[in-house]
Amino acid sequence: MLKNNKILIFDTTLRDGEQSPGCSMNLSEKLKIFEMLQALNVDIVEAGFAIASDGDFEAIKEISKIAKNTKVCSLARAAKDDIDRAHEALQAAFNFRIHTFIATSDLHMKYKLRMSREQVLENIKESVLYARNLCDDVEWSAEDGSRSDFDFLCQCVEIAIKSGANTINIPDTVGYSIPGEFQELINKIRNKVSNIDKAIISVHCHNDLGLAVANSLAALDAGARQVECTINGIGERAGNASMEEIVMAIKTRKDYIPFYTDVNTKKIVQSSRLLSAITGFAVQPNKAIVGANAFAHESGIHQDGMLKHNQTYEIMSPESVGLSKSKLVLGKHSGRHAFKQKLIEMGYNLGDNFVNEAFKRFKDLSDKKKDIYDKDLVALVDNEVNLNDEIIKLVNLNVNCGSTRNPKISVKIDYKGKIIEKTKSGNGPVDSIFKAINSVIQNNAKLELFQIHAVTKGTDAQAEVTVRLNEDGLSVNGLASDTDTMVASANAYIVALNKLIEKRKKRTSGIGISSSTNY
Ligand code: KIV
Ligand code: ZN
Repeated sequence: MLKNNKILIFDTTLRDGEQSPGCSMNLSEKLKIFEMLQALNVDIVEAGFAIASDGDFEAIKEISKIAKNTKVCSLARAAKDDIDRAHEALQAAFNFRIHTFIATSDLHMKYKLRMSREQVLENIKESVLYARNLCDDVEWSAEDGSRSDFDFLCQCVEIAIKSGANTINIPDTVGYSIPGEFQELINKIRNKVSNIDKAIISVHCHNDLGLAVANSLAALDAGARQVECTINGIGERAGNASMEEIVMAIKTRKDYIPFYTDVNTKKIVQSSRLLSAITGFAVQPNKAIVGANAFAHESGIHQDGMLKHNQTYEIMSPESVGLSKSKLVLGKHSGRHAFKQKLIEMGYNLGDNFVNEAFKRFKDLSDKKKDIYDKDLVALVDNEVNLNDEIIKLVNLNVNCGSTRNPKISVKIDYKGKIIEKTKSGNGPVDSIFKAINSVIQNNAKLELFQIHAVTKGTDAQAEVTVRLNEDGLSVNGLASDTDTMVASANAYIVALNKLIEKRKKRTSGIGISSSTNY
């Protein structure tokens, strides 16, 4: 049984988070995020929505195989086929949960489900009983719970618990609630539902009014003991409650919030960074906890205060979220062993082949860049992850451009072992590079995002480029870094094209397309 002051962290980065436009991940990316969530020590991971696509099913199945202490969960609508598919995907997990849901607001029931209240009540009973026969751990959610008729919502909750649900989730699906109001809702449910003590109350808040974290924290005070959240707050529309903000608020304000989580907060920055690298969703600089400026002190008065005592302007330490001062790490003459050791210290436990390749790139980098910082190594590892085992590889790039001439670009590409060279001119060097690559790899992809940021300070910094492509609804991200912005751009574009090729193959074989399912 749950200790009274422990808050369960239910992470839905791989389900609600992945559902947001541009955030889709392939299997190996989902496995990497899962390993990270496991290292963070979250309690439950919602790994996907098994019936939504074969890709989701496959990801839940593979995640179930590697899960250790973490409970793995699949979402399922209130229908037998959905529940069976979730159950099948979770089979290999040591510890698993089926999460079934149906909308309970009049608006959703009338226009979306076209069901009466009686039908919804019957449906809850049947689906929860069915799920509970397959699995000991069943969560039931009232979609659009915060906009549902209160008495009807209580009837639904009561039936769900009677049918065997051990967690009752009250979502603020459209991010409409205000903290005081949401807290009162949870309080009233606790007072009105006769069997509520037989279930754990969970909350799932969206961020449409920027209140997802505030609403989730307010609900704790009213008795909720599980919070559903995502890394960096990614998710449908404005996103979900951000995991790092929830966890650090509970940790930092333990004087006021008398609870704890089991999350290893020192892994927070690394997980934020990994998710951004995989999805191409950069975190805004002033984002709480994980933004680049979250621990920066620019003004003279603040800097002076910090030098005298760091608690003058710091309510939590950068180290507590895993942020070490960007240190000068290794130099031109550092060896492979020191390099590997440094990666381990930074939380990367990588195979020897991977380390060897990354070490070669480190040596190249140290020839070009005088000072190499932690952030350079993170970018280098991300780059190596993305450029590994690809069908298309950049062999060589030559750029000729300037203010008085039209750009002329030549690229040499290794495409399935065949070297192809193309020369193109376009509207500036980036357009020319992408045109040259497109003349080798035929595609109809639209460029949805092109973003550059400097990994560290200094004019010799590495550029990190993110590219997002969309071809007929298949959305992919590419990320690459290099001291040469044009090389980074070409590689990011190639990483995205490699992912597109993989997705196209799965679409034709019917495997692995993450669809945004209507439910
Ligand atoms: O926002 C929501 O209501 C959901 C449910 C499926 C839990 O994501
Ligand atoms: Zn949601």
